[in-house]
Amino acid sequence: MFIELDCPASVRKQLAKLFSQALKATVPTQPEVVVPLIDACIAKNGVKHADYQCNNAMSLFAKIKGKQEEFKSPRSLGEGIMKNLPPSEMIESCSVAGPGFVNVVLSKKWIGQSVQKMLTDGIDSWAPRLPIKRVMVDFSSPNIAKEMHVGHLRSTIIGDTLARMLEFCQPECMIRRNHIGDWGTQFGMLIQYLFEEYPNPDDVNESDIGDLQAFYKASKLKFDSDPTFKLNAQQSVVKLQGGDPKYLKAWKQICDISRTEFNKVYQRLGIRLEEMPESFFNPYIPPTLEKLEKLGLIEDSEGARVIFVEGVDIPLIAVKRDGGYNYFSTDLASLWYRLNVEKLDWNIYVTDVGQWQHFDMLFKAFRRAGWLPKDENEYPICTHVGFGLVLGDDGKRFRSRSSETVRLVDLLDEAKKRAKDALLERENAKDWSEEEIEKTSEAIGYGAVKYADLKINRTTNYTFNFDQMLNDKGNTAVYLLYAHARICSIIRKSGKDIEELKKTGTVVLEHEDERTLGLHLLQFTEVFVESCSNLLPNVLCEYLYNLSEIFTKKFYSSCQVVGSPEETSRLLLCEATLVVMRHCFYLLGIEPVYKL
Ligand code: ARG
Repeated sequence: MFIELDCPASVRKQLAKLFSQALKATVPTQPEVVVPLIDACIAKNGVKHADYQCNNAMSLFAKIKGKQEEFKSPRSLGEGIMKNLPPSEMIESCSVAGPGFVNVVLSKKWIGQSVQKMLTDGIDSWAPRLPIKRVMVDFSSPNIAKEMHVGHLRSTIIGDTLARMLEFCQPECMIRRNHIGDWGTQFGMLIQYLFEEYPNPDDVNESDIGDLQAFYKASKLKFDSDPTFKLNAQQSVVKLQGGDPKYLKAWKQICDISRTEFNKVYQRLGIRLEEMPESFFNPYIPPTLEKLEKLGLIEDSEGARVIFVEGVDIPLIAVKRDGGYNYFSTDLASLWYRLNVEKLDWNIYVTDVGQWQHFDMLFKAFRRAGWLPKDENEYPICTHVGFGLVLGDDGKRFRSRSSETVRLVDLLDEAKKRAKDALLERENAKDWSEEEIEKTSEAIGYGAVKYADLKINRTTNYTFNFDQMLNDKGNTAVYLLYAHARICSIIRKSGKDIEELKKTGTVVLEHEDERTLGLHLLQFTEVFVESCSNLLPNVLCEYLYNLSEIFTKKFYSSCQVVGSPEETSRLLLCEATLVVMRHCFYLLGIEPVYKL
């Protein structure tokens, strides 16, 4: 776990409060506070004996042995804890099982009331709080003129979701940072190529070099094969870094074209980012290095200026042998800036796992300098959120058929096109407006790409497969979006005004499956806490999938809604399901679909 979230609405938290009182009363001999260990019960062979369990008795018994003679065994200690539970409307019944587990069955009346309260107060009333004020997620961060590859797509999707999850906790300040790689030796090559292809710079227009990847490739080819070009390119870097206006202008031209391309991806995915590119930090590099120098951290190694950090054999290269700066130099300066100017409490970097060591060394260097606390859990903290590779069906790195790299815009357009084709085959879509079809195919297509990525544990590699992600059965965005639309149509068919029902109706959970659905809705909070504090969106995806399964396979298959005596309560339960589902969609960056 990266961070402790405080969530008063969570069932687990509320039970922990009660058990904390019970524990205090049961083992007064304990010098320090006993932290209640509360877990949701998991069904075994489809049967669940209780909703939650307090697991303290066993470990606690070992501590009080000989101090409190009234307890002869862990089980008797469990019974003692149970007796000391303060009365609460939450709990229907308790029992002790095995070696002292205290089982809790929640009151269905209380579950119903809690669901209803969320409907009245809104889902924000379930939001947890962060223990800190200023958070940054550094994500997407493509490199100009190099390809924006599927790895950047993962960073963009995962980073956006993490930012949304953290925003739900309402920190005072939340920065979504695009640390664009707009500086580096590749620019010498590009600028030189630009000059040679367009001797008159005013002739250059965007459409000419709009395909920057092709432009990059062509210049790279020349760089590798033509020694004179190579030399000129190297001199171009020096001119650019020296601030020569002609070179700066060409650099800016190239950057702007790249930006237009990135923005197309962001616009399709509905992603908001605030750009602070690498070049912004250039002026901060020398003073940062100077400070590190004064602290005695920088030493010479084969002509380069390096920093050694704990537990790593190779040093971090702060200044290259030729005196130039690199990725590390910029990150040293940018982290200094983030801590001292932006005063961030939590700095999150979302990149592929391959950069793990880069960030490990960066953070260690800061710790060595005394710029980050020695204790990793003390604020300000820095976290590297790594993710695995994107693979193709052949198990190799994802590439398009021509074995060239994939243009992300094309990839997203393809997802949308496939979603649209599938949509047009449906009977219902016949009388949809063109606009509805467009919007729905975008929601499904882009949603499918995002969900396929988010639903697996981010640290593993993931296989990109259109057919799988666009399947309308199984754990996909398509299935979930349709489940959402189906619930919307139940409400529509009833002809009832939900806002009115919210004021006058009551959620009553008589049927076992109503109760299961109600409890699962309440458990959103604790699952969210787990997902957010570990920065693992897949935990939230699993919850969402289970929610629609419980709704469809349990509740809706055994409880008639429209026209039943329980209609009002069940419609409210449908609405609560929609609210929670939509909130999950929102957190995952997926647009909901309202009809199908
Ligand atoms: N531009 C880098 C890449 O494409 C990612 C940058 C991540 N952020 C950072 N501050 N280093 O791999």
